[in-house]
Amino acid sequence: MEVKKLFKFIENNNTEDKLIRLQLDRFADKIDNQIQNKLMTDLMVKYADLSKSFEEKNKLLLENRKKLQKYNLHLEELVNEKVKEITEAQMATIFALVKLAESRDDETGNHIERTAELCRLLASLLRKHTDYKELIDEKYIENIYKASPLHDIGKVGIPDAILLKKGRLSKEEFEIMKTHVDIGYKTLKEVHSQYKGNSFLQMGMDITKTHHEKWDGTGYPRGLEGQDIPLSGRIMALVDVYDALRSKRVYKEAYSHDKSLNIILDNKAKHFDPLLVEVFADSHLEFMKVHDYFQ
Ligand SMILES: [Fe+2]
Ligand SMILES: [Fe+2]
Repeated sequence: MEVKKLFKFIENNNTEDKLIRLQLDRFADKIDNQIQNKLMTDLMVKYADLSKSFEEKNKLLLENRKKLQKYNLHLEELVNEKVKEITEAQMATIFALVKLAESRDDETGNHIERTAELCRLLASLLRKHTDYKELIDEKYIENIYKASPLHDIGKVGIPDAILLKKGRLSKEEFEIMKTHVDIGYKTLKEVHSQYKGNSFLQMGMDITKTHHEKWDGTGYPRGLEGQDIPLSGRIMALVDVYDALRSKRVYKEAYSHDKSLNIILDNKAKHFDPLLVEVFADSHLEFMKVHDYFQ
């Protein structure tokens, strides 16, 4: 537009000729258009350059982000793998120690394998029940499977003369036998004091401490009643008794599944949590299958 102003000035000051003024106007417009076109072209080129470099930078950024994500994923997988390896090694060690302790009492056979499987089954079935939907999650089921083998760990402190006695225990001997609960609980509690917040150990302690308590309060060692007994202890109690009923003891033969089921039904709300008995009875054939598989 500067050129247009210049010609306007010439027109006002130097000539009255309308034709020349018109020509000058057209010429000025033409020059303005050319300047504008040139500007537009320059701008478009600049824009194209900028957008190309932006695209390249963006592409690079995306590639780097993908590389980082891949690296993070790999790192996470490595950590998970290591944690799994360590956990499995720890579990194998615990299992070996429990087996060693149980090997003194050769009548129990695969008792700890069977009870671990049966605890997992009962907890999984109970999970579908509204009362326990929130308490029983995947971690709870994993914990009960891994912690239930610890339930009789305190038997290492029971003298051979009592633990291996061929025949029923006397009243005094039974009192000593009962101490396996607190021996096991105190051992785990000491370990737990170094690993506070470990849910596996906490469940191991609950199970060890309460697996001989009874729903009606007539169990030992504390005579806890009903829901004062932790759920894991109530699950262990039922499973432990079912497996003991199905196994041969010095004072009895191995009972059939049906006979064992009836004994458990008779003890509903006496020895056992009534809800657990119902869940067990509803799926009793599944318990029989798991028990027989690990026989
Ligand atoms: Fe026990
Ligand atoms: Fe047991």
